[in-house]
Amino acid sequence: MTKTNAGINAGILSTGRAYPEGVLTNADLEKMVETSDEWITSRTGIKQRHRAAAGEYTSQFAVAAARQAVERARIDASEIDLIICATVTPDQILPSTACLIQAELGAHNAAAFDLAAACSGFIYGLTLANQMIRTGQSRYALVIGAELLTRYVDYTDRGTCVIFGDGAGAALLGPVEGDRGILAARIRSDGRYAEQLFAPGGGTRVPPTAETLSSGMHYFKMRGNELFKVAVRSMTDIAREVLAEAGYGAHEVRLFVPHQANQRITDAVAEKLSVDSEFVYSNIAMHGNTSSASIPIALDECLEQGLAKDGDLVLLVSFGGGATWGAVALKW
Ligand code: ACO
Repeated sequence: MTKTNAGINAGILSTGRAYPEGVLTNADLEKMVETSDEWITSRTGIKQRHRAAAGEYTSQFAVAAARQAVERARIDASEIDLIICATVTPDQILPSTACLIQAELGAHNAAAFDLAAACSGFIYGLTLANQMIRTGQSRYALVIGAELLTRYVDYTDRGTCVIFGDGAGAALLGPVEGDRGILAARIRSDGRYAEQLFAPGGGTRVPPTAETLSSGMHYFKMRGNELFKVAVRSMTDIAREVLAEAGYGAHEVRLFVPHQANQRITDAVAEKLSVDSEFVYSNIAMHGNTSSASIPIALDECLEQGLAKDGDLVLLVSFGGGATWGAVALKW
């Protein structure tokens, strides 16, 4: 018979983060493309981003972040039932990066799969893990966001190369007592925006050939200006929806961790929601946009700094390529 956790909330028990040592500063980029520290800082808030060295790969950072989360939760890896790795930059097409992580962790009892929802991948993963725990299908679930975006960045395209960075963050979810944990979670998408952020080559539609590689078709192409407006509107709307479902107002949020896409997007969403700036977390200056890894990396930093206290209302909101977006409201 299926075990049931009916009436039990799922919560984040612990987190972890990891990223390459290598750093690309705005000064470095000034030497590579026609840009300036002033432009990048004022238009994005980014000062530096981590960049993997040759030979490094996504699952190395995912495993390091996941190990921290598992150790901090004081459980054995064999107790994990589910591993979701949110990534659009997997180690390889087959097998899934989640299976490689499972083997490294020794989480032999876990189902494992990758989830491709670009920057919303972590929020999508939290939403699925929440349901798996609430229905009793899983007890402990590991949700990881891990990306080596710089592998797909064209360092002659100033519109994208200043934005993206590498890293991984992980959260270990499990059942929690009382009214704590995930109160509401929503995910959405609109494929009509697919070509606003995409990699045209390298898949089955335009298979990798010497020609597609030399013409850079495997690199990310982005219409950032158009995405900007959709991102602000979608993030604001879905944040309002989850807060209403959870029964709270934005003025009650004590920690707001949005996807770190652009400081101006974060500021615009926080202002539209009327979340007080003292509760808005930003690390984009140090990491740039790490896609699915940005929220779990930021959350891990918040916990290290003691920014989430027992009973605090925490709001996580994302927007990414697809387009995809989502939000989760939690009581810490
Ligand atoms: N340095 C200097 N000038 C630049 C640079 C640069 N790095 N990049 C662009 N410009 C120029 C453009 O060429 C343009 O010049 P022009 O007016 O002479 O044509 C001018 O700056 C303005 O360009 P915009 O694209 O309108 O600049 P914008 O203010 O929109 O900033 C940015 C660009 C930072 C990309 C912004 O649009 C953004 O962050 N968008 C959101 C991205 C996003 O949310 N993506 C989805 C999530 S990421 C994911 O899913 C993986």
